[in-house]
Amino acid sequence: MEQHIALVTGGTGGIGTAISRRLAEDGFRVIATYSSPAKRTHAEVWRAEQRERGFDIAIELMDVSSFESCAAAAADIREKYGVVEVLVNNAGITRDAVMKKMQMEQWKDVIDTNLSSVFNVTKQFLDDMLERQYGRIVNISSINGQKGQFGQVNYSAAKAGIHGFTKALAQEVARKGVTVNTISPGYVATAMVMAVAEEVREKIKAQIPVGRFAEPEEIARAVSFLTAKEAGYITGSNLSINGGQHMY
Ligand code: CAA
Repeated sequence: MEQHIALVTGGTGGIGTAISRRLAEDGFRVIATYSSPAKRTHAEVWRAEQRERGFDIAIELMDVSSFESCAAAAADIREKYGVVEVLVNNAGITRDAVMKKMQMEQWKDVIDTNLSSVFNVTKQFLDDMLERQYGRIVNISSINGQKGQFGQVNYSAAKAGIHGFTKALAQEVARKGVTVNTISPGYVATAMVMAVAEEVREKIKAQIPVGRFAEPEEIARAVSFLTAKEAGYITGSNLSINGGQHMY
């Protein structure tokens, strides 16, 4: 039986690991990407850990901020595994600083990795999806792309941009069996959130009606929902998963 292929960018990271595992449980052949040759050893250790837990997940080097790196990885993936049916644009970074102190590099790194990446990666796999008349694309944005966040003009702008990308592309490909949706997680208990100073983090937690940070699996569950065959009528939508921190 043909195995359906799912690609998760940043799939070895905090939320990415939960998404990769969940899609593997759903029966996909999952490929998780990592960002640089320097992270190869980490990715291989990660892969071995997943195997021990019963998840056979492939890894692939893909610097999502570089169109050329994405093109090279996509060619390799096509040759090794076949056509990608489910794409989860999950890779992202933070370079937090107040605008007054933010350097051009911090702006550029975040825009390239969190927003241009969505174009760089999607561009590689969209034609195959259109040709097959089937595809599921899920873009991981953030609560902070919806409401803005003190210290994150770069991140908030990039994550807000994802909503526009999703809604425009969803219209272009709707008749071809390809859905495009956004998930906007709130604060998830991962290393990215733990990097925020404890007193700032505690203040943020106090603003969450549910009273805790999200577990990565709670985001992965929504990815599973949106990537199912049965989700074909959901497109151009945004699913907020933020414990009630931002309702609109
Ligand atoms: N609103 C208004 N004023 C604020 C404020 C807020 N939310 N937070 C801080 N201030 C005030 C401070 O009280 C301080 O005032 P004074 O100068 O009068 O004392 C001033 O603004 C400077 O603030 P900081 O001391 O915090 O500035 P800093 O340069 O030391 O720190 C920062 C900047 C590192 C960006 C810090 O503000 C911060 O960590 N902010 C939170 C960023 C954040 O939430 N990141 C999320 C990362 S996880 C993620 O992004 C995942 C996801 O999708 C949710």
